[in-house]
Amino acid sequence: MTSKSKNPKPLRILIAAGPTREYIDPVRYISNDSSGQMGFALARAAIHLNCNATLVAGPVDLETPDDVKRINVLSAKEMHEEMMKQSKRHDVIIMAAAVADFSPRISKDKIKKTPKNAKGLILKLNKTKDILALLCKKRSDHQTIVGFALETKDLEKNARKKLNAKGCDWIIANSSKTIGSKSCKAILIEKSGEKTVLPHLNKEDLAIVILSHIL
Ligand code: CTP
Repeated sequence: MTSKSKNPKPLRILIAAGPTREYIDPVRYISNDSSGQMGFALARAAIHLNCNATLVAGPVDLETPDDVKRINVLSAKEMHEEMMKQSKRHDVIIMAAAVADFSPRISKDKIKKTPKNAKGLILKLNKTKDILALLCKKRSDHQTIVGFALETKDLEKNARKKLNAKGCDWIIANSSKTIGSKSCKAILIEKSGEKTVLPHLNKEDLAIVILSHIL
């Protein structure tokens, strides 16, 4: 892969960032804990490295980086649809989003406290689509696809499992401790099995290091 400095046509990078929001009723939702900072830092890094960048962003309170095209989405379903729509036009796809794995069926009206649910409310959650795995399944030959693995234990082992199961080219393993923090420690694992342990860096610098490795 070469960036614009070596190639007249800049690489087009698509990044999914932030959490998704799965509504239970019109006023309540379940979501994942994600600030979106890593994905936005990757978009800034892409511009810094003379690439084009598109961000498909879940609900986050972050400013759109200069020169980045941003598409806002809410649910895992919307993120899936938008990523599939955008994927064909991009050379590199990075799933840095914290996609909800389960989603309830939304109630049209606010769920009220009634005698029937006085002891509690049971929610049935359906599995959402695995966007990263589907992107890998439908990939074109020229595309590089990158995932993240957020783990609370057995970081490297679980990340390698995800890399193989989903079929991506790279996976960036990081601990759940990085959620919301400005800096993080990560391990970059290539599909060949080769790994690079990255130093403790703030997310802006980490994004540059990650992209420089991948491009
Ligand atoms: N991911 C995705 N679609 C989902 C869930 C996850 O595309 N429905 C992507 C994430 O954006 C990330 C990678 O898959 O790039 C791994 O996500 P992670 O939350 O670490 O793992 P899961 O696949 O959700 O598996 P588990 O919850 O069992 O750890």
